[in-house]
Amino acid sequence: MEERLVSSEADSGETFIEQSLRPQNLAQYIGQDKVKENLKVFIEAAKMRGETLDHVLLYGPPGLGKTTLATIIANEMGVNIRTTSGPAIERPGDLAAVLTALEPGDVLFIDEIHRLHRSIEEVLYPAMEDFCLDIVIGKGSSARSVRLDLPPFTLIGATTRVGLLTAPLRDRFGVLSRLEYYNEKQLAHIIERTADILGIGIEYDGAIEMARRSRGTPRIANRLLRRVRDFAQVIGNETITNELAVGALEKLQVDKLGLDHIDHKLLLGIIEKFRGGPVGIDTISATIGEESHTIEDVYEPYLLQIGFLQRTPRGRIVTDLVYRHFQMEVPKND
Ligand SMILES: Nc1ncnc2c1ncn2[C@@H]1O[C@H](COP(=O)(O)OP(=O)(O)O)[C@@H](O)[C@H]1O
Ligand SMILES: [Mg+2]
Repeated sequence: MEERLVSSEADSGETFIEQSLRPQNLAQYIGQDKVKENLKVFIEAAKMRGETLDHVLLYGPPGLGKTTLATIIANEMGVNIRTTSGPAIERPGDLAAVLTALEPGDVLFIDEIHRLHRSIEEVLYPAMEDFCLDIVIGKGSSARSVRLDLPPFTLIGATTRVGLLTAPLRDRFGVLSRLEYYNEKQLAHIIERTADILGIGIEYDGAIEMARRSRGTPRIANRLLRRVRDFAQVIGNETITNELAVGALEKLQVDKLGLDHIDHKLLLGIIEKFRGGPVGIDTISATIGEESHTIEDVYEPYLLQIGFLQRTPRGRIVTDLVYRHFQMEVPKND
């Protein structure tokens, strides 16, 4: 079986573990300093005024801590969080049911908010702006619209694809926070914290080794740690050393930059079949047998970030860095 290092969500067995690893307040949330500083001010100000926090949109690649941060915001505000997601809300009535069940001050978290249907978005606008709900009662000529008051609440939306949000929806968020990839030190810190929770020792060198291969992503860092821990356990080590980490990561086929076999397939595919590009996303998708939205949401952002891929109007191209990474000769431009 080919295991995936990178994915858009936690896999089924992982959800429970992830919850136990989630930081509970802003102080435990490592990195994202700018986002945290701003949120701290907005939260404090809202509390001083005795108001709800403005609606917050969190965006960025999968696994960077959007769901975690939504939970933390609710904790810091001292309110409950209700969670749903764009694809789970199929009809306007589904959203109405969620909204009318809110208690004053609650956080409503809508994950994957870019997947909300347009007709449902329209129900959301007055709810976000005026805390009310327009519903249509009856049919045909006897149909009439009634307005229901809602308790004041904070909507937190999360998305990996902020570009897919409609402008009117985006404009109704008072706070827009973009989560960035984490640096090695921050990831090492996250790995040490997780090791502590899991009750396994880890040397800093070992943590750094894993951090370097985590694609800037806490979810992947935690995933690597759990797998490396298995290797440690089997050989009876209570502490993860650098040597143990390196050996385990090699067996897991995670390369020095944290690229896995899908990244390899993608990059080598562009080189071997399209002479390095440019090539369109759908063609890449057909060539390597991965869905284009998975490539765009999950794989590509990191490859763009580290300068391995470039997007041009004519498609994706691989850069010289890729040839060097695979120890291939860099083609000469003529
Ligand atoms: N800043 C952080 N500090 C510590 N752990 C984090 C941080 N951000 C994310 N994590 C961990 O990474 C995992 C994935 O985070 P999650 O919030 O589910 O990401 P997203 O919703 O953006 O896909 C969680 O287990 C969480 O504990
Ligand atoms: Mg999430």
